[in-house]
Amino acid sequence: MAVKTLLRMGNPKIYQPCATVTEFDTPALHELITDLIDTKIAHEGVGIAAPQIGVNLRVMIYGFDNRNLRYPEKTPVPVTACINPTYEVLDETIEEDGEGCLCLPTLYGIVPRVRAVKMTYQDVKGETHTVTEEDFPARIIQHECDHLDGKIYPMRIADLRNFGFHEEIRTLDFFQP
Ligand code: NI
Repeated sequence: MAVKTLLRMGNPKIYQPCATVTEFDTPALHELITDLIDTKIAHEGVGIAAPQIGVNLRVMIYGFDNRNLRYPEKTPVPVTACINPTYEVLDETIEEDGEGCLCLPTLYGIVPRVRAVKMTYQDVKGETHTVTEEDFPARIIQHECDHLDGKIYPMRIADLRNFGFHEEIRTLDFFQP
């Protein structure tokens, strides 16, 4: 188990586009995936991307097994390690929902994302898979793929009143159950 140090907003490393993975089933790739999952779990993440722990490779994890303390109202999503993920938009309807990021502890935003995506990715052995997701899992995929392109969610928020400290912004009507 290796919980890695998370880089935070402002660190130049999180703004660099990541490199494509070309070697599969290597000890280093297995270790990276384990480290990402361990770090995600330790910080109650619902997803995590390699650049968040300082690794400039197109690797991300999405999903969470149990009720998540940071998104208690969301249904668990199977944990999946995705290498070189890309997605196409299946439903371009824009949904606004709350979003945080392990690089921005205590902060939160209301972020516009498309409703449904079809993602193609490789697993640790290099096999290609395709998955279709909508709503919250589709949001996580878009968030993590953004990381691989050097983007973090505040860059997607036009009105910065929709970005702030979690304890403040969650009092908006938007977050009332
Ligand atoms: Ni993030």
